[in-house]
Amino acid sequence: TSVVKVAVAGCGTVGAALLDLLERHGEALRQRRGVRYQVTRVLVRDADRPRAVSVDRALFTDRVDHFLETPADIVVEAIGGTTAARAVAHGTLVRGRRLVTANKALLRIEGPALDALARAHRAAGATLDFEAAVGGGVPVVRLLRESLAGHGLHRIRGVLNGTTNYILSRVEQGVPFADALAAAQRAGFAEADPTRDLDGTDAADKIAVLAWLGFGVDPAALRVRATGIDASLALEARAAARRGRAVRLVATAVRIGDGVHATVAPRVVPRGHPFAQVRDEQNLIQLESESAGTLTVAGAGAGGSATASAVLADILRHGATNAAS
Ligand code: NDP
Ligand code: HSE
Repeated sequence: TSVVKVAVAGCGTVGAALLDLLERHGEALRQRRGVRYQVTRVLVRDADRPRAVSVDRALFTDRVDHFLETPADIVVEAIGGTTAARAVAHGTLVRGRRLVTANKALLRIEGPALDALARAHRAAGATLDFEAAVGGGVPVVRLLRESLAGHGLHRIRGVLNGTTNYILSRVEQGVPFADALAAAQRAGFAEADPTRDLDGTDAADKIAVLAWLGFGVDPAALRVRATGIDASLALEARAAARRGRAVRLVATAVRIGDGVHATVAPRVVPRGHPFAQVRDEQNLIQLESESAGTLTVAGAGAGGSATASAVLADILRHGATNAAS
């Protein structure tokens, strides 16, 4: 059995769910792959707070420099935000380590720079993976990075934010907007600052990341016209439901000539429409290409275990590379 050392930045919804997955599936992974994934450090804001994860308390740190000094083959970044997360991402890649991040806000502003850094340090072992950053447990990043390259992709369209979708599909049933938002926060679907969900910023970051992968545009430079949802839109969604229609927050990126036009906006769709079928925290993404037609992927778009499963897929992705026997 070889050992792969994993340092995890963040022990919130995603980080804690990942630690739980590694604990529960550790033995099966060791038997199937001959690899033991050993957690070497966990970065948090408050290292003294008791945590409901079965990880040695001594492994917790609140210092980014300590975190980066710890031996690790793979670093998972699940802290969110762009300041400490950026330090973790850069510090990881320049050390020739594999970075797995769930952070679409960071990827939007510097995905291409991180990709370049990973390439520059590839010989030392650096890689960059971020399946969890868009679509939660839905493997849309992999589809765009690998399977659809060269298919003449012309439009990406989807429900990309679980929190707003949860709210919209609950208000249809008569749940007040504020109660639906509070429930989405309790379930761990919402961002630390839920304004990013509500005003369309989170979906805008995600469609920009997908446009980067699908069309090669710089996600930071791509202007995404974003409109979100609020309590009055929720009332409209409820009225629409009574007329047999659904309101969904839809993100779109379409290639037009040499450019890409991207938007996030609430759309009214008939009940039978695929978007209307997307309920609660689910996401659904349609990838339209010349040679493969429309490919649709859907599933859990937010929440600890779904997102952690995408992070784990990235961890397992390069096999036992860097593993020490
Ligand atoms: P949480 O707010 O639940 O957890 C964040 C964790 O990071 C906490 O453990 C926190 O420490 C730690 N942390 C935050 N800032 C710092 C800092 N400056 N230094 C050290 N530690 C820090 O976030 P989530 O788990 O929900 O999200 C994490 C990332 O995953 C984000 O980028 C988010 O966008 C992304 N994501 C989230 C999904 C979800 O469904 N929640 C789905 C897909 C992606 P402490 O515990 O001490 O406060
Ligand atoms: N806050 C995000 C959402 C988490 O609700 O979709 C998943 O990226």
